[in-house]
Amino acid sequence: MEVRRIDVRDDEECARAYDVIVASKGHERPWVEPPSLAETLVEWRHVDEAEPMEMWGAYDGLDLVGVATLWLPMTDNTTMTWADVEVAPDRRRRGAGGALVDRLVERAREEGRVTLLVEFHVPPDSESHGYRRFAERHGFTLGSTEIVRHLELPVDESLLARLAEQARPRWEDAYRLETHVDGVPDHLVESLCQVMNQLAVDAPTGEIEFEEESLTPARYHEHLDVAKAQARVRLTTVAVQQDSGRVAAYTDLVLPSGAPGIAWQWGTLVQREHRGHRLGMALKVENLRRLQRDHPERRRVVTGNSDTNSWMVSINEELGFHVVELCAAYQRRL
Ligand SMILES: CC(C)(COP(=O)(O)OP(=O)(O)OC[C@H]1O[C@@H](n2cnc3c(N)ncnc32)[C@H](O)[C@@H]1OP(=O)(O)O)[C@@H](O)C(=O)NCCC(=O)NCCS
Repeated sequence: MEVRRIDVRDDEECARAYDVIVASKGHERPWVEPPSLAETLVEWRHVDEAEPMEMWGAYDGLDLVGVATLWLPMTDNTTMTWADVEVAPDRRRRGAGGALVDRLVERAREEGRVTLLVEFHVPPDSESHGYRRFAERHGFTLGSTEIVRHLELPVDESLLARLAEQARPRWEDAYRLETHVDGVPDHLVESLCQVMNQLAVDAPTGEIEFEEESLTPARYHEHLDVAKAQARVRLTTVAVQQDSGRVAAYTDLVLPSGAPGIAWQWGTLVQREHRGHRLGMALKVENLRRLQRDHPERRRVVTGNSDTNSWMVSINEELGFHVVELCAAYQRRL
């Protein structure tokens, strides 16, 4: 087994790496709808100075059998690094995964990182699943568990109307809701970034301690440019505080172009001083209504929440989300 760097400019190599990752992520998970190769390539080839990425391949002779991806945050959480390890299902248990983890650990140490984080999906009630055993055998310990839920669309409009009307009296005097497609207007970007930067510290993440993120307006625009090149649509509903004109809360849905049946729920956050006005529910309902109205081809929303995030989970349950699997995050101290 040989491990070497994958050249992200090499079309053929990238297509092979994509096939390995898709096969691995889809193994025993028939509901997975991966983004297309085209949109994946845009991401791989975009050089993000704030979080450079590198990919390593495990080769059995000429065959690429496993892929590890490593992200190195440079502007926040700089003692950490996060990674993904995927081995083709028919090539497992022959050392590829172990060889990739060894290389990741070596690279993380070279970069002076002290924590290596990985995430993978397992069925609910899977305490001794092979992926967990693999991680534990390599010195990782469980850091946090997210429960992944799906919402089948369309949600009944009468339910959405009822939830929206229940929430409205609690927020309407002090805030207004706005939904924006592919990014918020310039005058809201700075305050939106501030709210988004809180997500890593405010969302429960178990044993893993994140610092506040450092998204700037420039980087926000860079992300929008990447999404545009990927032909993705992003629906953002924000609550703007009327007095200050600043974003107090947001929620994002992202529609991958190569997986036309799904929408990913990305972040949702209400700033601490603005909690208690049912803004979380109001935002989610508003964004969902826009999704259903403008994108009827989307049949499902996919979301993940910490098992301890009772506030967000109860909103999702009211909307009709159901549990599908777990996303377990493991960390290793280097
Ligand atoms: C987990 C994964 C990366 C392992 O890849 P792999 O190439 O099979 O790993 P290795 O051959 O190096 O396995 C090393 C050891 O891990 C343990 N292990 C790996 N897969 C296992 C399984 N399904 N059940 C039990 N133990 C397992 C075993 O101890 C194994 O040694 P052994 O085969 O001598 O018993 C692979 O199953 C995969 O791609 N899973 C999906 C993504 C994922 O979970 N990534 C984990 C990130 S840490």
